[in-house]
Amino acid sequence: MIATKGGFQRPGPGRWVEDGRPAHLRAAVEGSLRRLRVERIDLYQLHRIDPKVPAADQFGVLAELRHRGKIRHLGLSEVTVAQIEAARAVLPIVSVQNRYNLADREWEEVLDYCDEAGLGFIPWFPLAVGRMADAGGPIANVAQHHGATPAQIALAWMLERSRVMLPIPGTSTVAHLEENIAAAAIRLDAGEFDIVGRT
Ligand SMILES: NC(=O)c1ccc[n+]([C@@H]2O[C@H](COP(=O)([O-])OP(=O)(O)OC[C@H]3O[C@@H](n4cnc5c(N)ncnc54)[C@H](OP(=O)(O)O)[C@@H]3O)[C@@H](O)[C@H]2O)c1
Repeated sequence: MIATKGGFQRPGPGRWVEDGRPAHLRAAVEGSLRRLRVERIDLYQLHRIDPKVPAADQFGVLAELRHRGKIRHLGLSEVTVAQIEAARAVLPIVSVQNRYNLADREWEEVLDYCDEAGLGFIPWFPLAVGRMADAGGPIANVAQHHGATPAQIALAWMLERSRVMLPIPGTSTVAHLEENIAAAAIRLDAGEFDIVGRT
């Protein structure tokens, strides 16, 4: 399953400018199809709802591209519950990608909403654990008990947190990729889940 997203321009290093104009979204989808060398994108996520463009226009072009077979499933990113509900009124949304990790739980409400509605929740920046992983800290202690790394415990905690959780840790090394995949097999008991989750 290949997932990607659109809705930002990248005018220079480190610069991200929202662009939800239908012409841009159409061009972004065509560009992704070409670069990914697929005929249909499995999951296409609107990176941001651009406040400068009517949301209905942004949703409309995505619906059209889906009906034309260019996109299989649609998702949103960095959205509130109200925005998800507005989108779901006109689009079959399957997932939400918001920033979420042990040290940043701003979007708990959105995660709970996704859990209840059966939408995939894709936490980005999932490995930020801050000082919790320091020696003697809650993550380090649980990691030691499991013979695991703090990153693995952070991922295991997120997978335990919700059945709709789909973490997407980025990595440039095979060793970290294997470590991150192995985290899916770690089971935290209720006590460990509470200790790790207490910030
Ligand atoms: N929706 C949005 O607005 C948004 C914003 C930002 C990112 N994202 C998405 O989030 C995904 C991940 O983003 P990201 O790669 O920037 O952030 P990330 O997954 O939170 O962190 C990646 C960093 O963690 C390190 N890492 C990975 N596995 C590790 C491990 N087991 N132990 C220690 N360090 C580890 C990586 O280093 P190594 O390379 O050395 O492993 C890299 O420095 C991407 O798909 C991206 O598109 C979405």
